[in-house]
Amino acid sequence: MMLNNEIKAAGIIGTGSYMPETVLTNSYFEERLDTNDEWIVSRTGIKERRKAEESVATSDIATYAALKAIEDANLNPEDLDMIIVATVTPDMSFPSTACIVQKNIGAINASAFDISAACSGFIYGLSIAEKFIKTGSAKYILVIGAETLSKITDYSDRNTCVLFGDGAGAAVVSSVEENNGILASYTGSDGRGGDLLKLPAGGSRMPASMETLANRLHYTKMDGSEVFKFAIKIMGEAAEKALEMCGLDKKDIDYLIPHQANIRIIESATKRLKIPKDKVFVNIDKYGNMSAASIAVALDEANKANKLSKGDVVVLVGFGGGLTWGSIVLRWA
Ligand code: COA
Repeated sequence: MMLNNEIKAAGIIGTGSYMPETVLTNSYFEERLDTNDEWIVSRTGIKERRKAEESVATSDIATYAALKAIEDANLNPEDLDMIIVATVTPDMSFPSTACIVQKNIGAINASAFDISAACSGFIYGLSIAEKFIKTGSAKYILVIGAETLSKITDYSDRNTCVLFGDGAGAAVVSSVEENNGILASYTGSDGRGGDLLKLPAGGSRMPASMETLANRLHYTKMDGSEVFKFAIKIMGEAAEKALEMCGLDKKDIDYLIPHQANIRIIESATKRLKIPKDKVFVNIDKYGNMSAASIAVALDEANKANKLSKGDVVVLVGFGGGLTWGSIVLRWA
């Protein structure tokens, strides 16, 4: 592809999302575990979450979200130069979920690959797309955050199972007018915290065996309170860092779209950034934590609900396993 030095800005020109129909309410867990609606709502803000059918894989819901985003951007699948899927629940180790989506939608001109940055994955994906667009190496990039976390959730572990849900969101990134679109993107990691949130078995460190299955090591393990402390600290820090990178301040934020892991974490970030509550998008009550899909779905829902106006400074911020974190400042075009 040709390098085009004229491109100064990359932004989002279309969004889409897809949610599986089956709803698991808190009463579903009340009936099966030592938990209750009051505990779940007061500690997490979650009232219900979605669950994909047994036969449905991450690429299936990613495909539906992708088609909606492509339509919203007024494009055809053949227009795409690249597909990036952020997920911790790929259909399989390889081929990548992005390649499966590419086949499903017929995006014959796109290169396709997955990235693994847990709940920060959609932000990482947008940040990668921004660079390809700005160098002129690609014209249209589809970034998808999609998860079927139900497939790696231990429904006998009350510490984790009430938190997670399934869903998919997507955005098309392309060139936009100067001083619009992505004004700054910031990503960070700290691998020393990797043990706080992980899926221990099924990889090369601990391949699948009868023993790993018996010990339920193919399910997500989390040190909730340590992750909570990290999240409280990093959400505000990451947002402030990206704002600083583009010469803006927290008072310039028109709309905040945070990762949806826990309403108390969102409230803490809201307080630190001094944003009124009606300027913060929240859908955790409906969907729980969908890892890489959370911000992607929230962005589409905010967009479709006309919460974002032309010229608004929109901040996306997230954190997750790895540990990873990241934020993006956008001027909505
Ligand atoms: N129902 C009832 N009780 C539960 C429960 C549930 N679903 N899950 C945990 N508990 C219990 C714990 O076992 C613990 O009991 P104990 O004191 O007898 O040991 C008690 O509730 C308090 O646990 P604690 O961990 O202190 O609660 P908390 O207020 O920190 O909330 C989380 C727990 C998981 C909701 C919270 O720590 C959190 O959201 N962490 C971050 C998770 C996250 O963001 N993960 C994804 C990163 S992208």
